Amino acid sequence: MIVARAYDSRPEGAREDGDGRAGAYHLPVMVDEVLDLLAPSGHGLYLDGTVGGGGHTRRILEVCPDCRVIAVDRDAEALAAAAVELADVRDRVRFVHRGFDTAALDGEVRQRGLDGVLLDLGVSSHQLDADARGFAFRHGVTLDMRMDASQDRDAIRFLAETDEQELARVFFELGEESRSRRLAREIVKRRSTEPLRTSDDLVAALAVSLGRSPSAREKARIFQAVRIAVNAELDALDAALPALRDRLRAGGVLVVIAYHSLEDRRVKDAFRDWSRSCVCPPELPVCTCRGRPLGQTLTRKPLTPTEGEIERNPRARSARLRAWRKAA
Ligand SMILES: C[S@@+](CC[C@H](N)C(=O)[O-])C[C@H]1O[C@@H](n2cnc3c(N)ncnc32)[C@H](O)[C@@H]1O
Repeated sequence: MIVARAYDSRPEGAREDGDGRAGAYHLPVMVDEVLDLLAPSGHGLYLDGTVGGGGHTRRILEVCPDCRVIAVDRDAEALAAAAVELADVRDRVRFVHRGFDTAALDGEVRQRGLDGVLLDLGVSSHQLDADARGFAFRHGVTLDMRMDASQDRDAIRFLAETDEQELARVFFELGEESRSRRLAREIVKRRSTEPLRTSDDLVAALAVSLGRSPSAREKARIFQAVRIAVNAELDALDAALPALRDRLRAGGVLVVIAYHSLEDRRVKDAFRDWSRSCVCPPELPVCTCRGRPLGQTLTRKPLTPTEGEIERNPRARSARLRAWRKAA
């Protein structure tokens, strides 16, 4: 069974105040690498599927004065922040509130096609830092974890309604938790008297299942697992990759920045499959499909942030960037 491998030992609940980013909505990650690979030019149309605070979109528009960006996010608060940040280039951005998994259905995307797509997965610093969003394991945070606040099921409902077996699967596969069954059992026991509502409730259940106080890293993994499940993040990525590939124009580039192994593996496997010339079943002795690759993987290995970037922005450290170009 494949489980999530956290690339990041940074505690998801820890604020990193003091690193010079106080007040920033989100510092965009691996910007130079993204621009090198997308190479925005001409009157290109680009999709930023995860606009967040607008950092990557701003740079795309800066390096290409005639390009336009369709800026998507499932978080209305992020879109509002990006609209402020990008006010001076407003005429070249169209903001869209939807999941990137359905961005291929957008009318302009369908009609015109895209010259490039960026997916910078996961959560923004703002989402992690704002207690009201309920993502962090800091003391006293009311659990929520929805990227899209209009979604019905938040983390409280997820922990209240998900059956024990599924909870154990989530903690094991998405949270690398070897005591996943004990944790699931403890949650089910506790919720029979009182729903788990706060970060402290979830941390307390984890502590009982481990028989000791959990480390920051252990808490981070469990909270990340719940977040991935609440937002169905892997399903969204699985749906988005082929749909957005099909909307790329010839020579268009898809760039994805992943922050944990389950996301990165999906991206790697998809790009490898699309770059193969033969799509015959492996048991066939000779190729009968005469297939042509759909395109070319531009990153043989994932790119990672430089030491300098990690020093400036510790939250970049888990990033893995892969890119793929559609055949001309
Ligand atoms: C790492 S941040 C992106 C930061 C952005 N690149 C910037 O420069 O500020 C990830 C953003 O993607 C959004 N997001 C995550 N999954 C999404 C999905 N399936 N569809 C749309 N937006 C998503 C989150 O709400 C969050 O705002």
